[in-house]
Order: sequence, then structure tokens, then C-alpha cells
Amino acid sequence: MSNTIQFINGQLIVPDQPVIPFIEGDGIGKEITEASQRVIDATVTAAYGDTKKLIWKEVLAGQKAFELTGSYMPDETLEAFQQYLVGIKGPLETPVGEGIRSLNVALRQTLDLYACMRPIRWFKGVPSPIRYPELVDMHIFRENTEDIYAGIEFMTGTNEGNKFRDFLINEMGVDKIRFPESSSFGVKPVSKEGSERLIKAAIQYAVKRGLPSVTIVHKGNIMKFTEGAFKNWGYDLAETEFAEQTFTWRQYKEIEKKEGKKSAKTALETAKNSGKVIIKDVITDAFLQESLLHPFDHSVIATLNLNGDYISDQLAAMVGGIGISPGANINYISGYAIFEATHGTAPNIAGTGKANPGSLILSGAMLLEYLGWYKAAEHVYDAMEHTFAKRKVTSDLFSMMEGATLLSTSDFADEIIRNIH
Ligand code: NAI
Repeated sequence: MSNTIQFINGQLIVPDQPVIPFIEGDGIGKEITEASQRVIDATVTAAYGDTKKLIWKEVLAGQKAFELTGSYMPDETLEAFQQYLVGIKGPLETPVGEGIRSLNVALRQTLDLYACMRPIRWFKGVPSPIRYPELVDMHIFRENTEDIYAGIEFMTGTNEGNKFRDFLINEMGVDKIRFPESSSFGVKPVSKEGSERLIKAAIQYAVKRGLPSVTIVHKGNIMKFTEGAFKNWGYDLAETEFAEQTFTWRQYKEIEKKEGKKSAKTALETAKNSGKVIIKDVITDAFLQESLLHPFDHSVIATLNLNGDYISDQLAAMVGGIGISPGANINYISGYAIFEATHGTAPNIAGTGKANPGSLILSGAMLLEYLGWYKAAEHVYDAMEHTFAKRKVTSDLFSMMEGATLLSTSDFADEIIRNIH
């Protein structure tokens, strides 16, 4: 059998020894990549003995690529991710200079990785600013290709800026621009297709894993045709394509209006008891508060690009910070997926052995789950939990933990490997 993962009829076909392209990354990338691969390999061996193995294939990007090839993102790197479908990367420094795009954005756009997926769970012993971190189990699906992040912006005073302003005022009859002469403009495209594919991925994830709810987070009260439409398209999708598996808050309201509160409550209870996923929505600002006060009320979160950016960092901080926050950028329609630590290159600690490899290790566990290698992924979570319970940590967590033992990046990986049972 070939060593290449394939995607046929919506299914990943994973050989026992798949080739996994990886980008080492800049700054702390080298240290955390080395550490995380050792942990992942050890958990695969613990789970499957000699029968399964990941074949790591280094591909170049970032500073290392520039030094060796003269390009920050050689074509071969993009081709490798296209060929092998599933890969992992360390953080990449955004090169400074005109005309150079963020390398992360280049990867996401080329492979149309429309869902940025981040699981938020707490490991026992990790310092948290909230009272019941053990109740946090959230899964963020952030739309990755649209919204105000699409990069359509016009600076005030430029030809484009003036042209755009004049078009709005003269052609579109817009009279609400407070200071037209000195305004810059940004455009926020939010499409039905883009919203549906993201929300569909979130619902399918909840259904497959037996999770209780999907919360659509939006500012539709203010931005009716973009964020409000996102919410409505989400409800429409749930009530048509997932009618059997879901019950929506909109349906609840409808029943309440027609038949009264009691009937609506009964319908909701029946849906919950029969294992249906409850689809609800919350306004973004309320969600930022809600997620701190009642994290257990939210399971899967489907949201737009900008909201998702803020929400991801807040939720990560609730369970220990960016040193242990994994992530993935996925296209569930083509199968392409790149797993990555959510933090940057941490130049202030690069080469010192202080970096926490946790986020890349957990990104590796997400990769294993994506391949269907759940047993190995469970080993990762279990061994991390044991390591934190023994209060053996890297410098980012050490200062916040009483009675902890300080380990280097590499020693932390060794400790996790020792804790694989
Ligand atoms: P950063 O995430 O690199 O660092 C922020 C702070 O967190 C620093 O104090 C750093 O020491 C600490 N930190 C980050 N990761 C850590 C880890 N694993 N263990 C312990 N401490 C850790 O963010 P910053 O400084 O804004 O960005 C540095 C570079 O990284 C920039 O060039 C930026 O463009 C790039 N970047 C790349 C990302 C990616 O490749 N996905 C994401 C974010 C930033």
C-alpha cells in the first residue's frame, strides 16, 4: 500500500505508515518540533506497537527555507501538503517587507483551509483564572477565509480610498459616514457558502462525537446582513440538512409562540433525551462573558473570523495559555489539514530550552484523531495529564504553580514519554 493519505468520497484513507509533511518553524520551532515528534512517536508505538508509524517528512518554510532556497515558501512545500493531505507545522515568523504575505495566510489560502479548529480543555493541575476549569470542554470552529479579515481595505487619502468613498456616497446613497474626508474603509464579505460549510463542519463534529450543543456566536444584532445572516444560514442548515440530528433554539421559539412555553420546554427536553444536538446562538459580547461564567453551557462554537480570533485567545487563557493551546486549519471537503501550535515563534526565548512544546504536542494529538488513531491520541492526553498532575512543567507555567519542578523543553517531552501507560 502507498504511504500517501487519500481522501475518497469524503473519507480519509490512512495507510499504516502515512507520510506526514512537517514545517519545523522559526524561533522556538526547532525545539518544540523535535520534542513533539518524540512524544507523538512514543504514543503511536504504545498504542499500536510496530503496526503503525508516522513517517515524518520535513518541508521547508520560513527563515530556514529562505537561507537554503532563497524563498520563504518554496513551491515544493505547498505541493507536499497538497500531495500528502495532512501535515503539521511549527510557528513561522511573518517576514518584514513589502509584498511578502504572511506565510500562514499563504498556506491557508492555497489549500482553502476554511475551518480553524481549536479544542479548549483543561488539564488537572494547570493554573487557571476561573473557578471551575474542570468544566471547560469547548471546541471552536472559526471561519478562516472571509469576514473583515479578507484584506479588502482602503486607506484614507489614497485614490482607492477616495474612489470607494465617492462610490458609497454618490452611487449607493450612503449618508452615514461620520468623517468622510478622513475615513479609511474595510469590507466584510460573509457568504452563504462560506458560512454553511463552516457551520456544517461544526455540526458534523458535534454529531460524530456525541457533543450536546453548537453555539453560533455572532454580532447579528448590529451587522444584520453579514453576522445576522451567518446565524440564520446556520439555523436553516441545521433544520434542513440535520433535521434528524438537531433541535434549534429557533424551533424552540417557534413552538413557544404557537403552543406556549410548556410545550417548547417539553420539545427541548425530548430532543436532549434523544441525543439531539441543540443549536443555539449568542451575541459575541455576551458570549465572552458567558464563557467565563458558565463555560459548561457551551460545547462546540461556530463563529466568524474576527470573533473567532478574540474568542480563541480568551478561551485559551482560561485553561493555561498559548503554551498548551493546539489548533488545526482544515478543509473538510477536500480533506486538507494542517495542524499547528497557536502561538508564534517566541523570539524572546528561542534557543533557551524554555519553550513549552505542549501546544504542538496537543496539535499532534489532534492530527492523530483526524487520522482516526484515537488510541494514540488518548495516550497523549493521559500522559500530559499525569505530567501536569506531578507539577512538572516548563517555565511559562512554573512561575504560576506552587511546588512545581521546572523542566526544559526536551526534559518535559521525556517526562511525558515516561508517563505513557
Ligand atoms: P508569540 O506567541 O511568539 O509570543 C508571545 C509571548 O508568549 C512571548 O512572551 C513568548 O515567549 C510566549 N510564548 C509563545 N509560545 C510559547 C511557548 N510555546 N512556550 C512558552 N512561552 C511561549 O507572539 P509574538 O511575539 O507576537 O510573535 C512572534 C512572531 O511569531 C511574529 O513574527 C508573528 O508574526 C509570528 N506568529 C506566528 C504564528 C504562527 O505561525 N501560527 C502565530 C502568531 C505569531
